Amino acid sequence: MTETNVTLTVNGKRSSLRVRPNELLLNVLRDRMFLTGAKYGCGIGECGACTVLVDGRPALACLTLAVAVDGKEVVTIEGLARGDELDPLQEAFLDHGAVQCGFCTPGMIMTARSLLDENPSPSEEEIREYIRGNICRCTGYTSIVSAILSCAKEKEEA
Ligand code: FES
Ligand code: FES
Repeated sequence: MTETNVTLTVNGKRSSLRVRPNELLLNVLRDRMFLTGAKYGCGIGECGACTVLVDGRPALACLTLAVAVDGKEVVTIEGLARGDELDPLQEAFLDHGAVQCGFCTPGMIMTARSLLDENPSPSEEEIREYIRGNICRCTGYTSIVSAILSCAKEKEEA
């Protein structure tokens, strides 16, 4: 299969690589860039475990071709913290016990990050609606929603 050159910026770092036309962003991130935060869950767009941000919007890396992100900016869970300082959402997930096995957590946090960037003061209903594509097999939704709500409130009060 003919490979194509793509250039993408991942977590602020620009990289050029050759990819096959059918190569998935998730495999590029995990196997070639060793960014294993985004998880391979269902592989068919049903669970949200592979969610990353592409140009600031949530994208399912298991359904996104690497060629489709040529020239784009990708952020994974590894790119959220600023040095030693966790993203406020990461802190809130820890504070609220919103991480059980942790498998859904990177995708859930990336989706929540996009929500709060779009709508800094979402209602509980809006949060539940926004994260509906992210499945938590540990069913920790109550803590997850509380974490997102508290993060939004903290920002409002700041
Ligand atoms: S692994 Fe991508 S949606 Fe499930
Ligand atoms: S914490 Fe286990 S799947 Fe969500």
